[in-house]
Amino acid sequence: MRAAYDASPVNFVIGAVFLPSTNLTVPTTSGKTDLYQYTILANHTAYAFESYMDTRYATAQAYIERAAINLRRKANNKPALSSPLPLKVDPGTADSGAGRTFISYANFVGVSSSINQSLNAYYVIFCFQAVWLGVLSILVVEKKKGIRAAMSMMGMSRNSYLISIWVMQNIQNLATCALMVFILFVGKIFTHTNAFIVWLLLVLFSFNATAFGTIASVFIPDPKKTNTVSFLILIFTVGGYGICAAFVFGGTSVLTPTKETLVFLLPSVALGRAINYITGIEAALGGVTFENITTGPCGKALWMMAIDCLIFYFLAWYIDAVVPTRTSSGLPLDFFLRPSYWGIGHYRGATGSGTAMRGPAKPLDLSRPHGDARHHGDMYEQADVSHIPAEDRGIIQVQGLRKNYSTGPGWGYKIPFFGIFFRIFYPPNSERTNGPFSGVQKNEVVAGLDLEVHRNEIMGFLGHNGAGKTTSLSMIMGMINPTSGSIVVNGHLLPGSSGVSRRDMDMRTLEEVQKQMGICPQHDVLFETLTAWETMQLYASIKGVVVLGRKSSYNDPPSKHKELLEEYLDHLLDDVYLKEKKHERVSTYSGGMKRKLSVALAFLGDPKVVLLDEPTTGMDIFSKKQIWQLMQDSKAGRAILLTTHSMEEADALSDRIAILSKGELQTLGSSLFLKNRFGVGYHLSFEKRRVMLADQIQKQEFQSTSLLDDSESAAAATGGVVLFNEERTTAIVKQHFPDATIDVNTVTDITYVLPTTGTAEQRQGRTAQEYIESKKAALPGLFSQLDQEIAANRLGVKSVGLALTTLEEVFISLQEQEEAEILAKGGDAKK
Ligand SMILES: Nc1ncnc2c1ncn2[C@@H]1O[C@H](COP(=O)(O)OP(=O)(O)O)[C@@H](O)[C@H]1O
Ligand SMILES: [Mg+2]
Repeated sequence: MRAAYDASPVNFVIGAVFLPSTNLTVPTTSGKTDLYQYTILANHTAYAFESYMDTRYATAQAYIERAAINLRRKANNKPALSSPLPLKVDPGTADSGAGRTFISYANFVGVSSSINQSLNAYYVIFCFQAVWLGVLSILVVEKKKGIRAAMSMMGMSRNSYLISIWVMQNIQNLATCALMVFILFVGKIFTHTNAFIVWLLLVLFSFNATAFGTIASVFIPDPKKTNTVSFLILIFTVGGYGICAAFVFGGTSVLTPTKETLVFLLPSVALGRAINYITGIEAALGGVTFENITTGPCGKALWMMAIDCLIFYFLAWYIDAVVPTRTSSGLPLDFFLRPSYWGIGHYRGATGSGTAMRGPAKPLDLSRPHGDARHHGDMYEQADVSHIPAEDRGIIQVQGLRKNYSTGPGWGYKIPFFGIFFRIFYPPNSERTNGPFSGVQKNEVVAGLDLEVHRNEIMGFLGHNGAGKTTSLSMIMGMINPTSGSIVVNGHLLPGSSGVSRRDMDMRTLEEVQKQMGICPQHDVLFETLTAWETMQLYASIKGVVVLGRKSSYNDPPSKHKELLEEYLDHLLDDVYLKEKKHERVSTYSGGMKRKLSVALAFLGDPKVVLLDEPTTGMDIFSKKQIWQLMQDSKAGRAILLTTHSMEEADALSDRIAILSKGELQTLGSSLFLKNRFGVGYHLSFEKRRVMLADQIQKQEFQSTSLLDDSESAAAATGGVVLFNEERTTAIVKQHFPDATIDVNTVTDITYVLPTTGTAEQRQGRTAQEYIESKKAALPGLFSQLDQEIAANRLGVKSVGLALTTLEEVFISLQEQEEAEILAKGGDAKK
């Protein structure tokens, strides 16, 4: 060493002098303690400005001791430990030590790297925010847009839906984690550890993150809140690790197994601890491999995260099922313990007693008084159902259906500080009608609705905006639970109906019912990125539509089925006039075209019950007629419930019409009945002899012009033109209908209204029906007199027309009646 220094003092850096007693040969006997004694000599002139710990002393010591250890390891057939310090220069030359830059900062475990080390764990956990954010936004957006509800109505089970989301997300996760591992290892953050172990750790955590996202999505109604909530999950996961790091494993690096298992139930703690450990080991120039995996927390972290996966996926699946949303009423809390949920056992219909509600249901008695006294039988048509075969009656039956919503958030949300958390994790929901989280004011949207739709019938469901049509339809679809009342669809009592205990409910009921139902919701629920053709195919496969031709059977090859199915879908799209556009994306469609596709979807797969909520809104008149044709043609064998704001449509299609007002059935009957009962009566119109012309004739201006028609010129020739005699005509009309009024009076026409309904005073105790009959009896007399008068050419009338009131007038008159009643009630209240 002296020689080396003397030869070149500048090049001499450091040296070790072993004391003569030190035995540097390989020890042969294991168990014997070896004593190494040495002195480190360093070139102070060149490098002496650091403390012992920070300089080459420590470095040299580390190398000498590593060498001694390796001697021992070699003797015991163990692989040698690598160099104690990371290489800073070209590894080719570094082995010899020549050209090595001096590392002045010894990277000892537990001395100066602990901040780096624990930050690593936090960074890694942070990276996964994207995973739950991804899941969260897909689920919340699809929930908000109603896509999920629509798919479940179409027969997609909740499980398939969740699994599809999970599989998609987790496949992405595998790739993302691989990328992260690549960065960790290429960036030399980890070098010695087995990359596969790190990847497994990350993947297992990302799987858990997917489950977190699903759980959170259940409580978020609005996609706008996903970022906030995702941040909260981050705080929760990182915070969980942070708290454990600070208080549970604090300074000690060894935990009792029980404690460790408990804290590892939180996947972020398991991951954080494992990453922390790996970082530490790496700093000590070791690594976690499959050989030593059991010594640190990594092995346990791996299997505990696998267990966490089971727990969190189960929780996600369970919470998603039981928490009610806007569009689905949650399953009972013990749903997964029931055999029927798993399809075990015989399908029992909807009631415990089995057959009680199955088969032909009893017809409802619609003539009984409803809620309010003003609802007496008088308002409903006494429909004769005797001609309808019993099995065709009451395909849809609704009895005493009510739905309450509460308004405004409850007082629970006003609690300082906690209220904010309640708002985020337990958002205000108008469905809650009691408890601290429900608003006070009850909002009765559907108030005791009774309805019955038979097979082969279209029932028109009318009402002003906000009358509760959509809400009623949603309850019949099984998308929301009624507050009270019962619904029977095709012999199945729907879950949520009063009188069925949730205990006895067969879990398959809703699914069974929805299989037989086709719906067109008020707002289009379509995948914007798919074409009409793809949408139809997607839903056909979800619904499991199989088309059998006349000569085909289930045993045909799949290609045959596919061909038939495509032909069928083609026909269906043709029926709604979308055939030319079928290969264009839905996002390029106009509102009317989307409606058409929704209607086609409602009729897909031959449903026995079809619910259409304003199907023709926004359609051009030509398409409208086409859809009407489709509905008329599809009526056979089905019960169709149709809401619309087009009176023409209701009139043209509906066999019976129900008019809803403020959640109550105002009236129910055929179009003719409604017109008779609530219309203004008849419109009697006369075409007048042209008055202008007659004046001109008198002035001798157009004596022989061709402007006069035959009869007029003939009359003119004889000098006997009779102008329209309004006085005389009105007198004759009034003679038969004393309360007739003139509706329109133009130069060419005059229209009288012949009221038939009359007010309560006019009826004098007779029922409305009797009164109408008595008024109608006056018509023949009126017409025979008019005939005589016209034949005698005394009235100056060219033609006569009689028309029944329009449905529009019925609707308006009912509205006016309703408003008058409200006014009257308000007046009473003030008194
Ligand atoms: N989730 C809800 N929370 C509170 N009120 C609701 C909710 N859904 C509907 N409503 C109210 O119910 C009434 C009826 O709505 P709807 O059934 O959509 O009427 P429409 O007859 O026009 O289809 C409206 O006044 C609406 O504000
Ligand atoms: Mg509506």
